[in-house]
Amino acid sequence: MSKRWNQTRVASALGVQYPIIQGPLGGSSSQRLTAAVSNFGGLGSFGSHGLEPHAIKDVIAEIRSLTSKPFAMNLWVSMEDPGAAVSDATAFQRALSHLAPHIKAVEGTQPTFSPYNAIRFEDQARVLLDAKVPVFSFIFGIPPKEILDEAGKQGIITIGTATTPDEALALEQAGVNLVVASGFEAGGHRGSFLRSSEDSLTGTISLVPQTVDAVRIPVIAAGGIADARGIAAAFALGAEGVQMGTHPSTTCRAAMRTCRYSFGQRITPIVRTKAIARTTAFPSAKRDRNMPSGLTKTHMRRSRTLRSTWRFIPRGSIQSK
Ligand SMILES: Cc1cc2nc3c(=O)[nH]c(=O)nc-3n(C[C@H](O)[C@H](O)[C@H](O)COP(=O)(O)O)c2cc1C
Repeated sequence: MSKRWNQTRVASALGVQYPIIQGPLGGSSSQRLTAAVSNFGGLGSFGSHGLEPHAIKDVIAEIRSLTSKPFAMNLWVSMEDPGAAVSDATAFQRALSHLAPHIKAVEGTQPTFSPYNAIRFEDQARVLLDAKVPVFSFIFGIPPKEILDEAGKQGIITIGTATTPDEALALEQAGVNLVVASGFEAGGHRGSFLRSSEDSLTGTISLVPQTVDAVRIPVIAAGGIADARGIAAAFALGAEGVQMGTHPSTTCRAAMRTCRYSFGQRITPIVRTKAIARTTAFPSAKRDRNMPSGLTKTHMRRSRTLRSTWRFIPRGSIQSK
């Protein structure tokens, strides 16, 4: 009997029904969205790179209270931010002055300055290992061997992120279980770690088959995948799973609410929605005055399209944190 489309090595390694990952959104993740995606058979991910270890512990506990299904916690391996180390209150106010009117317009909470406090990746990873999270995904490099070894011993599935086949190979050689091939279309940061971002700009449609050819571990395609056609295309290219970031974040009305009500404290709605609009998934998005702030007609239309893809998330079932 032929295999169903969703019976892939990614689905089986992660223990999920659908090899569809809601991409981690560092600074913009929600416990409820993460849990809801997992509850409906995909893999919800929580981007926790900006959180102190004790806060990560709380997030994991809350996600566990909302789902018994596998979920992923995501970290940035490289936490260096030299720019932040020298940024001061004046620079913060200068940057904020451009955004403050927009935050006010959507009744968001104005962010306040707090001095940069470097968080160590190793301390964050320790929390994930101690909590034995089901899946530990990461970006911007390869964790130290001791961390990967311990994850392996604990039965924690690891997912690395590659923007080139070389990076995928390096992740495989380090013993990482699954690799996300992240094309240049992918929203958020460029996770390159072997070469500069400028030298790692392969598009998803080229990167996925090259990566599949380069490694033996299962490949998850990311970047510009926005509906069932994108998923089918990624699978035709050899991927065994997909990771979508931009679209899930604009799909459900709860996520929009999250933009408006929760993220105000950490990231402004305008910054977030504009960042989303700037990803190449929405190259020609035009602003419309009647849309929620920063969202566009294109977002709304495509969100409806995606809703039909993410059928396992009924409308209104997700509430933002
Ligand atoms: C606002 C935003 C924040 C993101 N933060 C992270 C992150 O912290 N860690 C990570 O591995 N990927 C991060 N990503 C990448 C997504 O998880 C996902 O791989 C990517 O969005 C897929 O491409 P798409 O945006 O075209 O769907 C982020 C993406 C966005 C849009």
